[in-house]
Amino acid sequence: VSAAVLGPQELVDAELAWWTACNASFDMAVAVASRAEVGGVSLDKRELRNALGRFATGVCVVTTRTSGGQTAGLTVNSFSSVSLDPPLVAWCLGRNAPSLKAFAEAEHFAVHVMSADQHAMAMHFARPATDKFADVRDEFEPGIDQVPVLRNALARFECRKASAVDGGDHVIFIGRVERFAYTDRPPLLFHAGRFLNSDTGRP
Ligand SMILES: Cc1cc2nc3c(=O)[nH]c(=O)nc-3n(C[C@H](O)[C@H](O)[C@H](O)COP(=O)(O)O)c2cc1C
Repeated sequence: VSAAVLGPQELVDAELAWWTACNASFDMAVAVASRAEVGGVSLDKRELRNALGRFATGVCVVTTRTSGGQTAGLTVNSFSSVSLDPPLVAWCLGRNAPSLKAFAEAEHFAVHVMSADQHAMAMHFARPATDKFADVRDEFEPGIDQVPVLRNALARFECRKASAVDGGDHVIFIGRVERFAYTDRPPLLFHAGRFLNSDTGRP
């Protein structure tokens, strides 16, 4: 969707609405419905989002720190493994996200896969805030390049940024894994705009 179709504020609203639609934890109106030109084809953007949301995913918190000491972090479900040799992973960040500047600048980032009992942490990092780490500082420690890393994630991948690729209204960050760790616990799952109970697969 080009900026010519939706203004910047509408893009931000659309971004949040997409991630929070149907999510009772967010008491936010969803006011995005448009039959706009999507990639030159007339597609209902809201319906496209609904369809894409049928792909069930895990949930990650990605963190970073710039050389100037600015930290940023957000919840994503766009994480994907890319390559084992070399070890590459990817995730997407909305172009209007306040954290974009820090991720564009920083050389490293860390991806944390959330366990089922980390729903609150995932929600915490899904809301814009001046300093998201202020309330949860105890849960983090310094990782590679001083990037704040969560102590008890289900899995953790500390990455050197390999590239930032144009992905339409998102930027695709590809990272080379330099260190990783994992544990065995039930995962936090996301499907059709809702977090799922990992035992039952139901909301
Ligand atoms: C389950 C879930 C998945 C999300 N996935 C993404 C994602 O892949 N990319 C993205 O840019 N935002 C995603 N978001 C929205 C961001 O977490 C949210 O916009 C956050 O406020 C961005 O951080 P910032 O405001 O510090 O830039 C997701 C939100 C939720 C609840």
